[in-house]
Amino acid sequence: MKRACKSASTSNAPSHSNQGIDPNGVSPYKKEDENTRYMAQRVADHYSARSNQTFEEREASPIIHLKKLNNWIKSVLIQLYARRGDVVLDLACGKGGDLIKWDKAGVGYYVGIDIAEGSIEDCRTRYNGDANHHQSRSRFTFPARLLCGDCFEVPLDRVLRDDGPFDICSCQFAMHYSWSTEARARRALANVSALLRPGGTFIGTMPDANVIIKKLRESEGLTFGNSLYWIRLMKNMIVREEYDLELVFVKNFHEFIDEYLTKPEFAELMRRFGVLGDGNQDTSTLSSDE
Ligand SMILES: C[S@@+](CC[C@H](N)C(=O)[O-])C[C@H]1O[C@@H](n2cnc3c(N)ncnc32)[C@H](O)[C@@H]1O
Repeated sequence: MKRACKSASTSNAPSHSNQGIDPNGVSPYKKEDENTRYMAQRVADHYSARSNQTFEEREASPIIHLKKLNNWIKSVLIQLYARRGDVVLDLACGKGGDLIKWDKAGVGYYVGIDIAEGSIEDCRTRYNGDANHHQSRSRFTFPARLLCGDCFEVPLDRVLRDDGPFDICSCQFAMHYSWSTEARARRALANVSALLRPGGTFIGTMPDANVIIKKLRESEGLTFGNSLYWIRLMKNMIVREEYDLELVFVKNFHEFIDEYLTKPEFAELMRRFGVLGDGNQDTSTLSSDE
């Protein structure tokens, strides 16, 4: 999505912090209800508990090929939209698995925020060049600021007032964490809109709305799920135009893969990533999270 070139969105924000985001500070906003915060904390604990995984542990995951496919999709997206010198905001950046992708795109500055302290620690280690992460470079060419905090709880524009405006805001495989309440979903869009420069680009990967609607039609009422996920639909609709955001590109993964696998450079990248599990992965020049 693109941030429209008209008036800037504004929002009140919490106090500035260099270490993390403190929603308890002097925020004029009402605190979220305990249940919402509890759920966000459970997500943070889940991801923190998975920090410090070795290369071998990651490769042993039963969904390693899906993870590699997801990585390929992110790589293609970043190559399509990032420009040299871009100022990048990575919402829910995780352990920094995309740092190398941004580096290859030649970005000028990077800010990453994640709610999981363990993931941000891993991200710092990776940025500082820990060889245990099997990264193929020990130094990144861009300066970075890495913060632990909830991207969807408070307005971020004052927290990041010295860092932006951003040319690109990315939120990969994480936007759905903002959908627990309407307030958080709105905060996510307001943050993207307030932090992007006019004409700046938001890139994200998230659950396919058509699949959700199909499952909704097959279910009784507004709730469905299984032992792994659970969805309850809100009655209100949020429209991106309310946040000055204009849709420029949307594709589900099947269409995306079909389209970009026809380009030789991206087909070659998929082989090197080892997505197909055919033993042709290139581990000499590519790290597992590249
Ligand atoms: C599937 S991981 C994706 C990580 C990274 N974007 C990537 O593609 O490698 C989801 C991430 O969202 C983060 N997350 C979930 N809720 C969040 C929130 N409210 N604020 C910031 N990060 C959040 C988790 O801690 C986790 O690192």
